[in-house]
Amino acid sequence: MNNVVVETKDRVLRIELARVDKKNALTQDMYRAMREALAAADADPQVRAILLHGARDCFTSGNDLKDFLGRKPGDGPAESFQFISALPKVEKPLIAAVGGPAVGVGTTMLLHCDLVYASPAARFQMPFVPLGVVPEAASSFLLPMIAGYQRAAELLLLGRPFTAEKALAAGIVTEIVPEAELLEHARNAALAVAALPPASVRLTKQLMKRPLGAAIAAQMTEEGRIFAERLQSGEAKEAMSAFLEKRKPDFSRF
Ligand code: COA
Repeated sequence: MNNVVVETKDRVLRIELARVDKKNALTQDMYRAMREALAAADADPQVRAILLHGARDCFTSGNDLKDFLGRKPGDGPAESFQFISALPKVEKPLIAAVGGPAVGVGTTMLLHCDLVYASPAARFQMPFVPLGVVPEAASSFLLPMIAGYQRAAELLLLGRPFTAEKALAAGIVTEIVPEAELLEHARNAALAVAALPPASVRLTKQLMKRPLGAAIAAQMTEEGRIFAERLQSGEAKEAMSAFLEKRKPDFSRF
């Protein structure tokens, strides 16, 4: 699966998003490949940390919008939903390196990572409302909690792009590092975690995640139910078609 490169080296499993011509927009196959890589990392005692990254100038533009438009009522659970449901259950430390656009799930998946490094040029965005849908990956629960309600409301209701500095202030990012050093910095963090006592690392992550596990799962289910309904709405179809047709959406008839 060449849009997602998976490689294990020095006890770090690396997942690279590599669909650069489409700004790493995520297809169902890519979600499946990522989910399988996360499961493989947890199952392999030789893997001690997971590193997730895209290109230096693009993390991911989020879910493939063509794919969203193709979903029909009654389609089974999407691979995207299975991927985001698996994220909070990952046992090994998940380290992300974000350069350039990190849109939609490209931002919300970071809420489930343990260490997030971003370049100064990283641009985050959760455009669920402008796209006529609702937030996912439990971001409607986790973001108000980590960023505070007002900050989360601005990012989720307006859905505009925001800078690495704003993401740092909101608690989405651990540290901003120069673009040239981004990947190496994140990899060094993964290697540092990989060198620590593995059971202690795993148990500490488990202890931090445990109190919120059930609430996160419940919120994801509710978000997923509403999201699936909204995908069939005229508002969402107009917003997504407009992007693919490179025109401004027109919501005046709704
Ligand atoms: N789904 C499908 N295709 C996408 C995509 C997505 N999420 N994001 C980008 N692409 C495609 C574009 O249609 C374009 O394809 P083309 O070359 O065949 O015309 C190509 O990738 C390059 O994208 P472009 O918009 O020209 O790049 P840019 O550098 O000007 O902007 C982004 C980059 C990420 C800011 C912009 O592409 C964007 O906003 N994408 C949509 C993000 C989005 O709404 N995601 C869903 C979140 S729920």
